[in-house]
Amino acid sequence: MIRLNKFLAECGVAGRRECDKLIADGCVTVNGKVAQLGCCVSETDKIAVNGRRISDVQRKYYLMLHKPKGYVTTVKDDLGRKTVMDLIDIKARLYPVGRLDYDTEGLLILTNDGQLANRLTHPRNEVDKTYICRLSGILTESERLQLERGVIIDGVKTAHARVKILKRDQHHTRCEITIHEGRNRQVKKMFQTVGKEVEFLKRVAVGNLRLGGLPRGEYRFLNAEEIDYLKNL
Ligand code: URA
Repeated sequence: MIRLNKFLAECGVAGRRECDKLIADGCVTVNGKVAQLGCCVSETDKIAVNGRRISDVQRKYYLMLHKPKGYVTTVKDDLGRKTVMDLIDIKARLYPVGRLDYDTEGLLILTNDGQLANRLTHPRNEVDKTYICRLSGILTESERLQLERGVIIDGVKTAHARVKILKRDQHHTRCEITIHEGRNRQVKKMFQTVGKEVEFLKRVAVGNLRLGGLPRGEYRFLNAEEIDYLKNL
């Protein structure tokens, strides 16, 4: 069940407050009866605004998934591996925004809002993506600076990045890296240029949107503020 005003807003009828006004004005019906302000509806209810049927198909979904490793970021995998869609029990046709490798975990946005997906993945929009990684070996200060200034991968220099060393022991370095490009296996390839293998990689943020304590393998709906934030990035 979902609040009627939220359902209407997600179907693109109007903002939530305006939807409340439409409901209060008696313009909205649920199964042929005039709807009451504050009521909830389910997938099977027939909802109309001024006599025009509003379909669930128009509803926009915005989710954040904590992708575990061992899942492919695709809608269907030709090799029959598990995909991120196996973790989502929503009937609408959603697709992932950007890609995390099979062995990478962390924050993945899924939506059926094609416009937003394009905006977030277009290089021109330079959305920051932040990762935590564990590297084999010790990352030196000069290597860290090299990575920040840009290194050549696949023949092209990477854009400015931020690299913070969180912890070092004899054999490993734990660091946080923020990039705004989305090239294939970019983080792993960047560290390779300074002779470091990424043993563990997790995306913890997209812009200011953070994964937080969302358990691995679970998803949650983004709230209105988070959706607005992404739309205005
Ligand atoms: N960079 C990588 O190397 N892999 C990912 O999954 C994401 C960024």
